[in-house]
Amino acid sequence: MEKLVITGGNKLRGTIKISGAKNAAVAIIPAAILSDGVCLLENIPDIEDVNIIDEILGKMGASVRHISTSSIEIDPGGIKEPVAAYDLVRHMRASSYLMGALLGKCLRADVALPGGCDFGVRPVDQHLKGFGILGATHNIEDDMIKIKADKLVGNHIYLDVVSVGATVNVMLAAVKAEGRTTIENAAREPHIVDLANFLNSMGADVRGAGTDVIKINGVKTLRGTTYSIIPDQIEAGTYMAAVCCAGGDVIIQNVIPKHLESITAKLREMGVFIEEFDDSVRVVSDGKLKRCNVTTMPHPGFPTDMQPQIAALLSTADGTSIVNEAVWDNRFRYVEELRRMGANITVDGSLAIIKGVEKLTGAPVKATDLRAGAAMIVAALGAIGTTQIEDIRHIQRGYEDVVGKLSSVGADIKLVDDDDNMMKN
Ligand code: EPZ
Repeated sequence: MEKLVITGGNKLRGTIKISGAKNAAVAIIPAAILSDGVCLLENIPDIEDVNIIDEILGKMGASVRHISTSSIEIDPGGIKEPVAAYDLVRHMRASSYLMGALLGKCLRADVALPGGCDFGVRPVDQHLKGFGILGATHNIEDDMIKIKADKLVGNHIYLDVVSVGATVNVMLAAVKAEGRTTIENAAREPHIVDLANFLNSMGADVRGAGTDVIKINGVKTLRGTTYSIIPDQIEAGTYMAAVCCAGGDVIIQNVIPKHLESITAKLREMGVFIEEFDDSVRVVSDGKLKRCNVTTMPHPGFPTDMQPQIAALLSTADGTSIVNEAVWDNRFRYVEELRRMGANITVDGSLAIIKGVEKLTGAPVKATDLRAGAAMIVAALGAIGTTQIEDIRHIQRGYEDVVGKLSSVGADIKLVDDDDNMMKN
């Protein structure tokens, strides 16, 4: 089994280029199903989740051509059966977007119950509520959600919780519905805006994305398009945290600073120097950080997908910090792994109380999910000695070329096989 081997202590210097946003790509690729033409998608990250969603589309009969490592051409014309194979779907939460895309295109969708990161219950009740209000019915049998509609008619949908997935799925089902759909209490993440911009580039009429009220006027056809997706603000935030933990002076290139606002504000509160430019940020840190408190919120609050990484940083901050995970039920499985490295963290319900220690110490740890794995990398870069991170398939789901990007700024990080032979990353 491959693992990452990281020896801490090196200051990081140079430039890291951020790839396209995973959570935009895994929404926009299924959305291409809605097109009556061919879509060329650019700035797509070369990550496992994208490969899986590509494979699912291919298995359904769509033509998916990799033009380069970061651009793919999708022609959904060959899709015969709106059925998403269980064996692939179960690996990834974002496969739930196939429900909205197939329902919006074919008035029918048979999709396996979604998989993805394992932190608490991952319900889809709000997705199904939205589909129902548009006129669809569903039943669940043999771990498959089967949805169908004679027609989809625009309506008013109030989401009981701010849900990225439900917002995405209702948008996908509504863009070709008859009449107007209003989504209230919608998620406001950058990838919601990116999806709306993609749909509109195909001829859809989606307004208000980025606010908590999205209005959609249904259209009859959606044409092929060429679209470049936004950079990944969570990948950028992860590397900003890496510099803060290891110390150094790094330019994080190809970002939209506005998407990083809550992360930048929190790191500045911890004493980090951050300079913003048009499409990059410069992060300078001596590795000495002030304690602070963090509560995760839907955008534009502090993102839950940065919670494990900031907790890794706070593990060696000066004082006691409290991290409140207010989005997910149980996103602290990584704490046990940080404790192996000497972190002093107590979990009490949605709170992690973190007493800063001088330094963490390298140890054998596991990536318990995607962002937990990222947190292990952050912690290892600032730790004394060597850390081995197992189960790195979680990390490969969402981070393109993490070894290459960190090595390029001086980190001592290697990908090795079971016999500790170095591998090409
Ligand atoms: C998306 O997951 C992201 N995944 C997650 O990122 C991210 O943590 C999450 O949004 C919050 O920002 C993708 O975009 C592929 P939600 P999603 O629906 O859509 C509750 C990563 O690391 N809820 O916004 O599944 C739910 O239980 C991943 O990149 C319902 O109650 O999250 C949670 O408490 C991990 N009913 C809250 O809403 C529903 O029908 C937010 O979930 C749906 C959600």
